[in-house]
Amino acid sequence: MHGKTILLIVGGGIAAFKSLELVRELRRAGARVTPVLTENGARFVTPLSLAALAEAPVRTSLWDLEAEAGMGHIQLSRSADLIVVCPATADLMARAATGEANDLAATLLLATDTPVLMVPAMNVRMWQHRATVRNVATLRHDGVTVMEPDVGEMACGEFGPGRLPQVPAIMESIADLLDPTPLPLAGRRAIVTAGPTHEAIDPVRYLGNRSSGKQGFAIAASLAAAGADVTLVAGPVALETPDGVYRVNVTSAREMADAVAKFMVPDIAVMVAAVADWRVDAAEGKLKKGDGGPPPLTLVENPDILATTGHGANRPRLVIGFAAETGDLLANATAKLAKKGADWIVANDVSAGVFGSEDTHVHLVTRQGSEDWGPASKLTVAYRLTGRISAEFNRDK
Ligand code: C5P
Repeated sequence: MHGKTILLIVGGGIAAFKSLELVRELRRAGARVTPVLTENGARFVTPLSLAALAEAPVRTSLWDLEAEAGMGHIQLSRSADLIVVCPATADLMARAATGEANDLAATLLLATDTPVLMVPAMNVRMWQHRATVRNVATLRHDGVTVMEPDVGEMACGEFGPGRLPQVPAIMESIADLLDPTPLPLAGRRAIVTAGPTHEAIDPVRYLGNRSSGKQGFAIAASLAAAGADVTLVAGPVALETPDGVYRVNVTSAREMADAVAKFMVPDIAVMVAAVADWRVDAAEGKLKKGDGGPPPLTLVENPDILATTGHGANRPRLVIGFAAETGDLLANATAKLAKKGADWIVANDVSAGVFGSEDTHVHLVTRQGSEDWGPASKLTVAYRLTGRISAEFNRDK
């Protein structure tokens, strides 16, 4: 951190006073601090105390002509190694997410390509409001690092997430952004299958299943976020391709098997797709209603992609399957480990309407035993699984 310049934007919230402690720590670590105070921020800390601790003049307005003559705001926004917004209020994040430039702080955030760290602090209801959730997602999508606030009692007496993270945690995030540690799965290659398959009955009809693809897409996204090079073999679902993921669209189980064989990787395979166990001996032309009653469907077994991968000669180092069960969850999942040649099985009780839902309840089954991960969103399961995969690949480090 020594010799780096931090542009520190202090927003207007009760937590603003803690930014003074942050300034002190940054100075102690040898960083230069260029302080910017929003109009509301100045209601909580005085420009004088901020300037004294930062040992630098404080900018508060776009219209401070004397300061502008010294260093224009465009240059100001680019002269830093990192911009830190602390506290990042709901209002400031909303303005940054929409790209407004209606005060000095918002203009600096818009005019820069310097990395930005937002350290939120606000009332728990404000933090959990859909608008804020949306804004945080937009900011993260735009490349801004938004810390998770601490959970605890608020200044207003309510309890929950919304408290400013502790200064050492903020310092750690700043150090990380200034000198990023390599991503845990950088250089690793992963293949993920997701979604249902459709098995043609005739040119217009198919056999399908209720898989939404959400879990597999979330896993592909989180593996990519952890630095892996991800190929996502997706059945027919209308989901957006996660950032940085290479997507191969397929329709039937056989197409999925071919794509998996073609794009197989050395490191990680996560088979999340709900592959049809059987295909239909499909008719060439459209089946017609006739006097003979409904036509019989002859079912033919599909290739088991997970088992082929798990028992294959060029098996990836870590093979993970999913098991959707409606009974005897752990026994069935454990049996599946050996049968499929998988290292881990993520077992999922689907009797409770998991398909299409955002939420799930899984157990991680390995040869060492099983862990109940409890009810969680599919996104949380994805990130947790990615954490475990990362740990597996970084065990010796
Ligand atoms: O045998 P079962 O369908 O319960 O196994 C589920 C696991 O096997 C999932 O990981 C699924 O993606 C995979 N599978 C597969 N190919 C099949 C059937 C299942 O890859 N034909």
